[in-house]
Amino acid sequence: MAKLAPKPASRPDGIGVIKRISLFRHDMFSSQPARLYHAWMAQVRLPFYRSFLVNEPALVRRVLIDEVDNYPKSKVLADTLRPLLGDSIFTTNAEQWRAQRDIINPAFKGCPRQAFLCMREAGEAAIGRLARRADGQPVEMEFVTSYLAADIIFRTLFSVPLPAEVAEKVFHSFREYQRTQPLWSIPALLKLPKWVPRFRSRSAGRHATVIRALLVEMVDARQKEIDAGTAPDDLATSLMTAVNPSTGYRFSKSEMVDQVAIFFLAGHETSASALSWAFYLLAMDEGVQDEVVGEAKLLSDPPQPSDLSKMRFTKDVFHEVLRLYPPVPMFLRDAVEATEFRGCPVPAGSMVIISPWHLQRHERLWDRPDEFDPYRWQTDNGKARKRDAFIPFSAGPRVCPGAGFGRIEGVLMLAMFLKAFRFETTRDVPVPVAHLTVRSADGIYLRITPRADPDTIAGRSRG
Ligand code: HEM
Repeated sequence: MAKLAPKPASRPDGIGVIKRISLFRHDMFSSQPARLYHAWMAQVRLPFYRSFLVNEPALVRRVLIDEVDNYPKSKVLADTLRPLLGDSIFTTNAEQWRAQRDIINPAFKGCPRQAFLCMREAGEAAIGRLARRADGQPVEMEFVTSYLAADIIFRTLFSVPLPAEVAEKVFHSFREYQRTQPLWSIPALLKLPKWVPRFRSRSAGRHATVIRALLVEMVDARQKEIDAGTAPDDLATSLMTAVNPSTGYRFSKSEMVDQVAIFFLAGHETSASALSWAFYLLAMDEGVQDEVVGEAKLLSDPPQPSDLSKMRFTKDVFHEVLRLYPPVPMFLRDAVEATEFRGCPVPAGSMVIISPWHLQRHERLWDRPDEFDPYRWQTDNGKARKRDAFIPFSAGPRVCPGAGFGRIEGVLMLAMFLKAFRFETTRDVPVPVAHLTVRSADGIYLRITPRADPDTIAGRSRG
């Protein structure tokens, strides 16, 4: 029988503005009313902004695809993320974005064999680490999956494993950054002119500095290798030597750090979020877990890219995780020109919010929207909604360039980990919160026991 996936309580009606601001500052999900799960469109009462959340599939399509030029990425988002990401591709718009995307696209086509090997090696290392703690005592999975996903993208970028102490630093720095600087910041929402000093949280700035310093070091070292002709053929080298095919333009040093920062951040924080919820949902549903284990036993030793075609059910499980816990919970856009949504005037300058979180749990679109049911993807409802109401990687020109990478990583890691371990819930039920990605308010704790002989698992680890 399908199980209910944890969902935060919605805001009660009739609470005062101070309470609303405090809830909003803390977490976007619980600061919004339950009606967003069945409305086609709603004006969202953000503290200082006129904003429209759109759920109707045709409207979502208009914003992301058909009229994309009228809905650039929100300035609020750019302002919130600038300390960490500078002017990276995630936040830029118009010509600046186009030039960056033209350089990045060829450097990141599909998921080459090198990336698969990085995933496999990082997965084996993580299984080795976890085997030493798999004694049935609760283990916090957000750290486990963050270390794993950061190691995967670090190996893909720089051809070396992520050192353990760096993994700790990145996890804690980024968690603090997200907690102090959630999805968007209140100062950014105030729309202050650029010359007014920003009131960013000092600790958010400090944590962003730690993460950036690590990346600057890596980029500097790689530049020296490129100059000496000794650089390995990996994603960092591709990005740092890529040239815009039509203009001949290359990234400058500081642009390079911004782009590497977004690849590192978008390439691990999203996957880590999805995997931690995936392990929780599988622990919650033993029947589904057993079926994934059945497929995981078909993995070659060591796993090969061709194994992925055998993992059909595991793919459905990963889709179901991305539906219930879309790692990027909301996309923020600005309406450049005045328009209308469902007959309602939308003034120029309004914020438009696309919320995969609400769209993918929408009560008028999905059968039993809050149930964890990977079998739904084989039903007519699942197949139809996959086309018009399932956007964990966004859609249109700004669709995630790492979608193929992220899907393969998700399926491969689930299969490898389920083959090695059995996962069980504890009494703690995680509460989802909308930070930059969907995280749990207090971590995700699971009991883990080995399926195979732990020495065999640890012995296989190379990390
Ligand atoms: C499960 C994994 C992932 C999910 C769910 C995901 C989701 C997303 C979403 C929703 C966006 C668009 C956000 C918006 O429009 O506001 C995005 C953009 C982006 N993602 Fe991913 N992502 C994942 C993995 C990755 C990976 C592995 C990489 C790189 C290795 C990556 C790199 C990027 C970049 C560079 C952008 C900005 C693209 C642009 O604006 O042109 N992502 N991602």
